[in-house]
Amino acid sequence: MSNIHVTRAGSGTEPLENQPNKTRRGYHAGISGTRRHALTDRQSILYVDDSSMNTILITGANTGIGRACAEQLAAPGVRLILACRSRERTQPVLAELERRGAVAEFLPLDLGDLAGAAAAAKSFARANRSLDVLINNAGLAGARGLTSAGYELAFGTNHLGHFAFTLPLLPLLEAARGRIVNVSSGSHYRAPGINFEQLRTPTRTKTGLDEYGVSKLCNILFTAELRRRHPQITAVSLHPGRIASDVWRNVPAFFRPVLRWALRMESVHAGGAAVVHALQAQAPKDGGELPLYFHVQQPRPPSRAAQREELAAELWRYSMDAVSDRSEAPLASEPLRPHAATT
Ligand SMILES: NC(=O)c1ccc[n+]([C@@H]2O[C@H](COP(=O)([O-])OP(=O)(O)OC[C@H]3O[C@@H](n4cnc5c(N)ncnc54)[C@H](OP(=O)(O)O)[C@@H]3O)[C@@H](O)[C@H]2O)c1
Repeated sequence: MSNIHVTRAGSGTEPLENQPNKTRRGYHAGISGTRRHALTDRQSILYVDDSSMNTILITGANTGIGRACAEQLAAPGVRLILACRSRERTQPVLAELERRGAVAEFLPLDLGDLAGAAAAAKSFARANRSLDVLINNAGLAGARGLTSAGYELAFGTNHLGHFAFTLPLLPLLEAARGRIVNVSSGSHYRAPGINFEQLRTPTRTKTGLDEYGVSKLCNILFTAELRRRHPQITAVSLHPGRIASDVWRNVPAFFRPVLRWALRMESVHAGGAAVVHALQAQAPKDGGELPLYFHVQQPRPPSRAAQREELAAELWRYSMDAVSDRSEAPLASEPLRPHAATT
Protein backbone atom coordinates (compact mmCIF):
# COMPACT_ATOMS: atom_id res chain seq x y z
CA MET A 1 0.00 0.00 0.00
CA SER A 2 2.06 2.93 1.35
CA ASN A 3 0.20 5.37 -0.89
CA ILE A 4 -2.65 5.65 1.55
CA HIS A 5 -5.03 8.12 0.10
CA VAL A 6 -7.86 8.81 2.44
CA THR A 7 -10.45 11.18 1.14
CA ARG A 8 -12.08 13.13 3.91
CA ALA A 9 -15.71 13.93 4.34
CA GLY A 10 -16.44 17.42 3.14
CA SER A 11 -13.07 17.77 1.45
CA GLY A 12 -14.40 18.23 -2.04
CA THR A 13 -14.44 14.58 -3.08
CA GLU A 14 -16.63 13.73 -6.05
CA PRO A 15 -20.08 12.60 -5.09
CA LEU A 16 -20.55 8.83 -5.05
CA GLU A 17 -22.85 8.74 -8.05
CA ASN A 18 -20.12 10.30 -10.21
CA GLN A 19 -17.53 7.62 -9.47
CA PRO A 20 -19.37 4.31 -9.51
CA ASN A 21 -16.64 1.82 -10.35
CA LYS A 22 -13.36 3.38 -9.45
CA THR A 23 -11.25 0.81 -7.73
CA ARG A 24 -8.09 2.71 -6.87
CA ARG A 25 -7.40 2.37 -3.18
CA GLY A 26 -9.06 5.02 -1.12
CA TYR A 27 -11.12 6.12 -4.03
CA HIS A 28 -13.62 3.35 -4.27
CA ALA A 29 -17.29 3.97 -3.98
CA GLY A 30 -18.74 0.64 -4.97
CA ILE A 31 -20.36 -0.46 -1.74
CA SER A 32 -23.30 -2.51 -2.82
CA GLY A 33 -26.72 -2.20 -1.25
CA THR A 34 -26.40 -5.73 0.05
CA ARG A 35 -23.24 -4.85 1.90
CA ARG A 36 -24.70 -1.73 3.34
CA HIS A 37 -27.62 -3.78 4.60
CA ALA A 38 -25.27 -6.17 6.31
CA LEU A 39 -23.51 -3.28 7.97
CA THR A 40 -26.63 -2.14 9.73
CA ASP A 41 -26.71 -5.48 11.53
CA ARG A 42 -24.42 -4.97 14.50
CA GLN A 43 -24.32 -8.69 15.18
CA SER A 44 -22.58 -9.49 11.90
CA ILE A 45 -19.30 -7.81 12.67
CA LEU A 46 -16.43 -8.28 10.25
CA TYR A 47 -18.88 -9.06 7.47
CA VAL A 48 -17.62 -6.61 4.89
CA ASP A 49 -14.28 -7.48 3.38
CA ASP A 50 -13.84 -5.38 0.30
CA SER A 51 -10.12 -5.35 -0.52
CA SER A 52 -10.47 -2.29 -2.75
CA MET A 53 -11.29 -0.14 0.27
CA ASN A 54 -8.87 1.48 2.67
CA THR A 55 -9.25 -0.68 5.76
CA ILE A 56 -8.18 1.01 8.98
CA LEU A 57 -8.32 -0.58 12.44
CA ILE A 58 -8.16 1.74 15.47
CA THR A 59 -7.98 0.68 19.10
CA GLY A 60 -9.77 2.72 21.78
CA ALA A 61 -11.86 4.78 19.36
CA ASN A 62 -15.08 5.04 21.38
CA THR A 63 -13.89 8.33 22.86
CA GLY A 64 -11.05 10.87 22.96
CA ILE A 65 -8.27 11.04 20.39
CA GLY A 66 -9.19 7.71 18.81
CA ARG A 67 -12.74 8.82 18.17
CA ALA A 68 -11.60 12.16 16.74
CA CYS A 69 -9.12 10.38 14.50
CA ALA A 70 -11.76 7.93 13.24
CA GLU A 71 -14.13 10.79 12.48
CA GLN A 72 -11.46 12.63 10.50
CA LEU A 73 -10.70 9.52 8.47
CA ALA A 74 -14.34 8.62 7.82
CA ALA A 75 -15.27 9.01 4.16
CA PRO A 76 -16.74 6.92 1.34
CA GLY A 77 -14.30 4.16 0.39
CA VAL A 78 -12.91 3.86 3.89
CA ARG A 79 -13.66 0.95 6.18
CA LEU A 80 -13.02 1.66 9.86
CA ILE A 81 -12.91 -1.09 12.45
CA LEU A 82 -13.09 0.21 16.00
CA ALA A 83 -11.52 -2.19 18.49
CA CYS A 84 -12.95 -1.19 21.87
CA ARG A 85 -14.08 -2.58 25.19
CA SER A 86 -17.75 -1.67 25.01
CA ARG A 87 -20.05 -2.12 22.03
CA GLU A 88 -22.59 0.11 23.72
CA ARG A 89 -20.16 3.01 24.15
CA THR A 90 -18.85 2.55 20.61
CA GLN A 91 -22.30 2.51 18.99
CA PRO A 92 -22.73 6.32 18.68
CA VAL A 93 -19.30 6.58 17.05
CA LEU A 94 -20.13 3.85 14.53
CA ALA A 95 -23.32 5.71 13.65
CA GLU A 96 -21.43 8.97 13.14
CA LEU A 97 -18.80 7.30 10.94
CA GLU A 98 -21.52 5.76 8.77
CA ARG A 99 -23.23 9.13 8.56
CA ARG A 100 -19.97 10.40 7.05
CA GLY A 101 -20.09 7.66 4.42
CA ALA A 102 -17.60 5.18 5.86
CA VAL A 103 -18.14 1.53 6.57
CA ALA A 104 -17.84 1.17 10.35
CA GLU A 105 -17.56 -1.99 12.42
CA PHE A 106 -16.96 -2.99 16.01
CA LEU A 107 -14.32 -5.46 17.21
CA PRO A 108 -14.40 -6.33 20.94
CA LEU A 109 -11.01 -5.76 22.55
CA ASP A 110 -9.77 -5.60 26.13
CA LEU A 111 -6.03 -4.96 26.06
CA GLY A 112 -5.62 -6.02 29.68
CA ASP A 113 -6.53 -9.58 28.67
CA LEU A 114 -3.56 -10.82 26.63
CA ALA A 115 -5.17 -14.02 25.42
CA GLY A 116 -8.33 -12.10 24.54
CA ALA A 117 -6.39 -9.42 22.65
CA ALA A 118 -4.54 -12.05 20.60
CA ALA A 119 -7.80 -13.92 19.96
CA ALA A 120 -9.54 -10.73 18.78
CA ALA A 121 -6.75 -10.06 16.27
CA LYS A 122 -6.73 -13.66 15.09
CA SER A 123 -10.47 -13.65 14.52
CA PHE A 124 -10.06 -10.48 12.47
CA ALA A 125 -7.16 -11.97 10.50
CA ARG A 126 -9.10 -15.17 9.78
CA ALA A 127 -12.15 -13.29 8.53
CA ASN A 128 -10.43 -10.60 6.47
CA ARG A 129 -8.31 -10.46 3.37
CA SER A 130 -6.89 -7.00 3.87
CA LEU A 131 -5.76 -4.48 6.43
CA ASP A 132 -4.01 -1.30 5.37
CA VAL A 133 -3.55 0.57 8.64
CA LEU A 134 -3.42 -0.34 12.32
CA ILE A 135 -3.61 2.56 14.77
CA ASN A 136 -2.68 1.44 18.28
CA ASN A 137 -4.26 4.34 20.13
CA ALA A 138 -5.98 2.95 23.24
CA GLY A 139 -4.33 3.74 26.51
CA LEU A 140 -4.72 4.64 30.14
CA ALA A 141 -2.79 7.00 32.37
CA GLY A 142 -2.65 7.60 36.09
CA ALA A 143 -4.38 4.34 36.96
CA ARG A 144 -2.76 1.76 39.23
CA GLY A 145 -2.77 -1.99 39.63
CA LEU A 146 -2.27 -5.11 37.53
CA THR A 147 -3.91 -6.30 34.32
CA SER A 148 -5.89 -9.52 34.39
CA ALA A 149 -2.85 -11.11 32.75
CA GLY A 150 -0.75 -10.08 35.79
CA TYR A 151 1.33 -7.18 34.42
CA GLU A 152 1.73 -3.66 35.75
CA LEU A 153 -1.40 -1.89 34.57
CA ALA A 154 0.04 0.75 32.23
CA PHE A 155 2.71 -1.53 30.75
CA GLY A 156 0.29 -4.46 30.45
CA THR A 157 -2.38 -2.38 28.72
CA ASN A 158 -0.56 0.28 26.74
CA HIS A 159 2.30 -1.88 25.47
CA LEU A 160 1.77 -5.60 26.06
CA GLY A 161 -1.92 -5.64 25.08
CA HIS A 162 -1.07 -3.89 21.83
CA PHE A 163 1.88 -6.22 21.25
CA ALA A 164 -0.41 -9.27 21.58
CA PHE A 165 -3.04 -7.63 19.37
CA THR A 166 -0.59 -6.55 16.67
CA LEU A 167 1.33 -9.79 16.05
CA PRO A 168 -1.49 -11.76 14.39
CA LEU A 169 -2.23 -8.76 12.14
CA LEU A 170 1.30 -8.48 10.75
CA PRO A 171 0.80 -10.85 7.78
CA LEU A 172 -2.19 -8.79 6.58
CA LEU A 173 -0.28 -5.53 7.03
CA GLU A 174 2.74 -6.94 5.25
CA ALA A 175 0.66 -8.12 2.32
CA ALA A 176 -0.82 -4.62 2.03
CA ARG A 177 2.56 -2.91 2.60
CA GLY A 178 0.56 -1.15 5.27
CA ARG A 179 1.24 1.15 8.15
CA ILE A 180 1.21 0.91 11.95
CA VAL A 181 0.78 4.07 14.00
CA ASN A 182 1.61 3.71 17.69
CA VAL A 183 0.26 6.54 19.82
CA SER A 184 2.96 7.22 22.40
CA SER A 185 3.42 10.35 24.53
CA GLY A 186 5.91 13.04 25.46
CA SER A 187 5.78 11.36 28.88
CA HIS A 188 8.17 8.75 27.49
CA TYR A 189 10.99 11.30 28.06
CA ARG A 190 10.61 10.84 31.83
CA ALA A 191 11.43 7.10 31.58
CA PRO A 192 15.19 6.47 31.65
CA GLY A 193 14.68 2.82 30.73
CA ILE A 194 12.68 -0.29 31.59
CA ASN A 195 13.03 -2.12 34.87
CA PHE A 196 12.02 -5.57 33.68
CA GLU A 197 11.95 -6.83 37.26
CA GLN A 198 9.03 -4.56 38.09
CA LEU A 199 6.76 -5.37 35.18
CA ARG A 200 4.91 -8.14 37.01
CA THR A 201 4.25 -6.11 40.15
CA PRO A 202 1.40 -3.64 40.72
CA THR A 203 2.00 0.04 39.95
CA ARG A 204 4.38 1.40 42.58
CA THR A 205 4.10 5.17 42.31
CA LYS A 206 1.12 7.06 43.75
CA THR A 207 0.27 8.83 40.50
CA GLY A 208 1.15 5.98 38.15
CA LEU A 209 2.81 8.53 35.88
CA ASP A 210 6.29 7.01 36.00
CA GLU A 211 4.84 3.68 34.92
CA TYR A 212 2.84 5.46 32.23
CA GLY A 213 6.09 6.98 30.95
CA VAL A 214 7.66 3.52 30.74
CA SER A 215 4.68 2.17 28.81
CA LYS A 216 4.91 5.06 26.34
CA LEU A 217 8.66 4.46 25.96
CA CYS A 218 7.73 0.87 25.08
CA ASN A 219 5.37 2.15 22.35
CA ILE A 220 8.34 3.79 20.60
CA LEU A 221 10.72 0.86 21.14
CA PHE A 222 8.04 -1.45 19.73
CA THR A 223 7.76 0.83 16.68
CA ALA A 224 11.53 0.76 16.14
CA GLU A 225 11.70 -3.02 16.43
CA LEU A 226 8.73 -3.44 14.08
CA ARG A 227 10.70 -1.43 11.51
CA ARG A 228 13.67 -3.74 11.83
CA ARG A 229 11.72 -7.00 11.79
CA HIS A 230 9.00 -6.04 9.32
CA PRO A 231 10.44 -3.55 6.85
CA GLN A 232 7.50 -4.08 4.49
CA ILE A 233 5.34 -2.29 7.06
CA THR A 234 5.76 1.42 7.71
CA ALA A 235 5.76 1.88 11.48
CA VAL A 236 5.64 5.29 13.12
CA SER A 237 4.95 6.70 16.59
CA LEU A 238 3.86 10.05 17.93
CA HIS A 239 2.96 12.29 20.82
CA PRO A 240 -0.51 13.67 19.99
CA GLY A 241 -0.22 16.79 22.16
CA ARG A 242 -1.71 17.61 25.55
CA ILE A 243 -5.30 16.83 24.84
CA ALA A 244 -8.39 17.43 26.95
CA SER A 245 -9.74 13.88 26.72
CA ASP A 246 -11.10 11.27 29.11
CA VAL A 247 -7.54 10.24 29.87
CA TRP A 248 -7.74 12.74 32.76
CA ARG A 249 -10.73 10.95 34.28
CA ASN A 250 -8.76 10.14 37.43
CA VAL A 251 -8.23 13.83 38.16
CA PRO A 252 -11.03 15.23 40.40
CA ALA A 253 -13.75 16.89 38.24
CA PHE A 254 -13.43 20.32 39.86
CA PHE A 255 -9.71 20.41 39.11
CA ARG A 256 -9.91 19.41 35.43
CA PRO A 257 -10.65 22.91 34.01
CA VAL A 258 -7.69 24.26 35.99
CA LEU A 259 -5.47 21.52 34.64
CA ARG A 260 -6.72 22.12 31.13
CA TRP A 261 -5.86 25.79 31.39
CA ALA A 262 -2.54 25.29 33.19
CA LEU A 263 -1.32 22.72 30.68
CA ARG A 264 -2.81 24.63 27.71
CA MET A 265 -4.58 21.52 26.54
CA GLU A 266 -5.83 21.21 23.01
CA SER A 267 -9.09 19.71 21.78
CA VAL A 268 -9.51 16.04 20.94
CA HIS A 269 -9.83 17.18 17.32
CA ALA A 270 -6.21 18.41 17.44
CA GLY A 271 -5.10 15.08 18.92
CA GLY A 272 -6.94 13.19 16.17
CA ALA A 273 -5.32 15.41 13.53
CA ALA A 274 -1.86 14.59 14.91
CA VAL A 275 -2.59 10.88 14.52
CA VAL A 276 -3.90 11.39 10.96
CA HIS A 277 -0.74 13.37 10.17
CA ALA A 278 1.47 10.48 11.35
CA LEU A 279 -0.64 8.09 9.31
CA GLN A 280 -0.16 10.09 6.12
CA ALA A 281 3.40 11.37 6.66
CA GLN A 282 5.87 10.45 3.94
CA ALA A 283 9.64 10.08 4.02
CA PRO A 284 11.50 13.23 2.94
CA LYS A 285 11.74 13.62 -0.84
CA ASP A 286 15.52 14.12 -0.72
CA GLY A 287 16.04 10.64 0.71
CA GLY A 288 16.19 9.53 4.30
CA GLU A 289 13.64 7.64 6.29
CA LEU A 290 10.31 8.54 7.75
CA PRO A 291 10.97 9.81 11.29
CA LEU A 292 10.42 7.24 14.00
CA TYR A 293 8.59 9.74 16.22
CA PHE A 294 6.52 12.87 15.72
CA HIS A 295 5.90 15.41 18.45
CA VAL A 296 2.39 16.47 17.45
CA GLN A 297 3.02 17.09 13.75
CA GLN A 298 6.77 17.74 13.88
CA PRO A 299 9.54 15.15 13.60
CA ARG A 300 11.52 15.03 16.83
CA PRO A 301 14.14 12.63 18.15
CA PRO A 302 12.64 10.49 20.91
CA SER A 303 14.56 9.99 24.15
CA ARG A 304 17.94 8.28 24.15
CA ALA A 305 16.34 5.25 25.77
CA ALA A 306 13.82 5.09 22.92
CA GLN A 307 16.70 4.95 20.44
CA ARG A 308 18.52 2.05 22.11
CA GLU A 309 18.45 -0.88 19.70
CA GLU A 310 19.36 -3.47 22.33
CA LEU A 311 16.56 -2.25 24.59
CA ALA A 312 14.06 -2.54 21.73
CA ALA A 313 15.27 -6.08 21.05
CA GLU A 314 15.08 -7.00 24.74
CA LEU A 315 11.55 -5.61 25.01
CA TRP A 316 10.51 -7.61 21.95
CA ARG A 317 11.93 -10.83 23.48
CA TYR A 318 10.27 -10.12 26.82
CA SER A 319 6.93 -9.37 25.16
CA MET A 320 7.15 -12.43 22.96
CA ASP A 321 7.76 -14.60 26.04
CA ALA A 322 4.81 -12.93 27.76
CA VAL A 323 2.39 -13.67 24.94
CA SER A 324 3.81 -16.93 23.62
CA ASP A 325 2.29 -19.14 26.28
CA ARG A 326 -1.07 -17.43 25.79
CA SER A 327 -1.28 -17.16 22.02
CA GLU A 328 -0.08 -18.94 18.94
CA ALA A 329 1.39 -15.76 17.51
CA PRO A 330 3.96 -16.60 14.88
CA LEU A 331 7.54 -15.57 15.54
CA ALA A 332 8.88 -12.99 13.15
CA SER A 333 11.12 -14.71 10.63
CA GLU A 334 12.45 -11.77 8.64
CA PRO A 335 16.11 -10.90 8.86
CA LEU A 336 16.82 -7.91 11.02
CA ARG A 337 17.93 -4.66 9.45
CA PRO A 338 19.53 -1.69 11.18
CA HIS A 339 17.26 0.76 12.94
CA ALA A 340 16.09 3.73 10.94
CA ALA A 341 17.87 6.93 11.79
CA THR A 342 15.70 9.36 13.66
CA THR A 343 15.39 13.02 12.85
N1 LIG B 1 -4.78 13.11 26.23
C1 LIG B 1 -3.50 13.44 26.24
O1 LIG B 1 -3.10 14.56 26.68
C2 LIG B 1 -2.48 12.47 25.72
C3 LIG B 1 -1.14 12.87 25.69
C4 LIG B 1 -0.19 12.01 25.19
C5 LIG B 1 -0.57 10.73 24.75
N2 LIG B 1 -1.88 10.35 24.80
C6 LIG B 1 -2.22 9.01 24.33
O2 LIG B 1 -3.29 9.08 23.43
C7 LIG B 1 -4.00 7.84 23.42
C8 LIG B 1 -5.48 8.10 23.50
O3 LIG B 1 -5.75 8.70 24.76
P1 LIG B 1 -6.94 9.73 25.00
O4 LIG B 1 -6.33 10.97 25.51
O5 LIG B 1 -7.85 9.77 23.86
O6 LIG B 1 -7.63 9.00 26.26
P2 LIG B 1 -9.14 8.56 26.52
O7 LIG B 1 -10.09 9.62 26.09
O8 LIG B 1 -9.15 8.11 27.93
O9 LIG B 1 -9.31 7.30 25.54
C9 LIG B 1 -8.58 6.13 25.79
C10 LIG B 1 -9.17 4.98 25.00
O10 LIG B 1 -8.44 3.79 25.34
C11 LIG B 1 -9.36 2.79 25.71
N3 LIG B 1 -8.83 1.82 26.66
C12 LIG B 1 -8.33 2.03 27.90
N4 LIG B 1 -8.01 0.86 28.47
C13 LIG B 1 -8.32 -0.11 27.56
C14 LIG B 1 -8.25 -1.53 27.55
N5 LIG B 1 -7.80 -2.23 28.64
N6 LIG B 1 -8.65 -2.21 26.45
C15 LIG B 1 -9.11 -1.55 25.38
N7 LIG B 1 -9.24 -0.22 25.33
C16 LIG B 1 -8.84 0.49 26.41
C17 LIG B 1 -10.52 3.54 26.36
O11 LIG B 1 -11.65 2.71 26.40
P3 LIG B 1 -12.79 2.90 27.55
O12 LIG B 1 -13.63 4.06 27.12
O13 LIG B 1 -13.50 1.59 27.52
O14 LIG B 1 -12.05 3.14 28.84
C18 LIG B 1 -10.64 4.70 25.37
O15 LIG B 1 -11.32 4.27 24.21
C19 LIG B 1 -3.44 7.04 24.60
O16 LIG B 1 -2.54 6.07 24.11
C20 LIG B 1 -2.69 8.08 25.42
O17 LIG B 1 -1.62 7.51 26.14
C21 LIG B 1 -2.84 11.19 25.28
